[in-house]
Amino acid sequence: MRPTYPVTELLGDGIGPELSRAVHTLADALPVRLEFVPIDLTVENRKLVGPKIYDEATDSINATRVALKHPTATVAESPNAILRRRLDLSVIHRPVYTIPGVPTNFRRELDLDIVRIATGGTYDDPGRLIGDDGAVSLRIVERKPVAQAARYAFNLARRTNKRVTTASKYTIQKATDGLFERVAKEVAVQFPEVAHSVELFDALLGKVIMAPEKFQIVLVLNEYGDFLSDMACGLAGSLGIGASANLAFDASGVVRVALFDAAHGTAPDIAGKGLANPTAIFLALAMLLYQLGEITVGQAVKNATLDLLREGIRTPDLGGGESTESFTAAVASAVVTRLD
Ligand code: NAI
Repeated sequence: MRPTYPVTELLGDGIGPELSRAVHTLADALPVRLEFVPIDLTVENRKLVGPKIYDEATDSINATRVALKHPTATVAESPNAILRRRLDLSVIHRPVYTIPGVPTNFRRELDLDIVRIATGGTYDDPGRLIGDDGAVSLRIVERKPVAQAARYAFNLARRTNKRVTTASKYTIQKATDGLFERVAKEVAVQFPEVAHSVELFDALLGKVIMAPEKFQIVLVLNEYGDFLSDMACGLAGSLGIGASANLAFDASGVVRVALFDAAHGTAPDIAGKGLANPTAIFLALAMLLYQLGEITVGQAVKNATLDLLREGIRTPDLGGGESTESFTAAVASAVVTRLD
């Protein structure tokens, strides 16, 4: 009997159906059984069912506790924003690393786990004009999501034997960023075996470029995480190849639900042509397997995918000649070999 896990699968637009088929082919090759519960978030079904579709989605995710989301077109509403609000997904974990075969201008290796508080900062308040020539907005930092993100980051560090860096502008933004660093330190003392360093955020950006090997897990507030993620992805040359975990926590700080997705969109220009690169959704699946505690299986999915890219087995967006289907078959067979 293979261990069985229910997983909500949020179906999407454009290349979504091809990616879903690829995920199922790969999942069938795994020594665990993922019991997918499909929720149709395509534009047609969102129009047909209306907002009720999000009740179905949240009910299912709350029951299965893990979800894999395919890209969805933002038309009237953004499904991502709605799910984030409804499920209280307050933290985003975004691993960013140089991927063999992905062209980049950066000559160094980068391997960062960015843990970002996904609420507050300046993003919850659009601000207001004061007369014609001035404007203000509120910057919000709250203990709860900072503590949740910090606990997640330090637990990740403990599990993976990595260091944590917190970065902010605490010397200038004394109240907001000062609170962030204070809460992070309170959590850090509960993890005495994990090395923790503090950087000024502007300095961190320079240091990541000059000495990327010094940084492993970086814990940051919302807007800093936004900037750092895109800079790191740009360095890795992998804007569209990464994946993230979107996390919600229970009262004791344990992950309550986790939604995994690829960074790219629906790629309408190539939809239905067998050209979609499933790398990002496979990396999202690998993270989902880690969350289920299936570390070895997750690692096999990640490493098989990256090794094939290194060997030049790639889809056309990376200069290769594989179709979605043939690349998927290669990954599935490499995963089986690895786990044997
Ligand atoms: P996009 O990421 O869909 O496409 C940008 C370019 O990258 C296109 O040339 C596309 O063909 C290519 N590309 C993207 N993913 C690829 C893959 N897996 N394999 C091969 N090539 C790939 O971004 P764009 O064009 O800005 O957005 C298109 C739609 O996607 C919009 O409706 C947008 O709202 C939605 N979107 C959804 C996201 C989500 O659900 N997480 C995230 C970003 C955009």
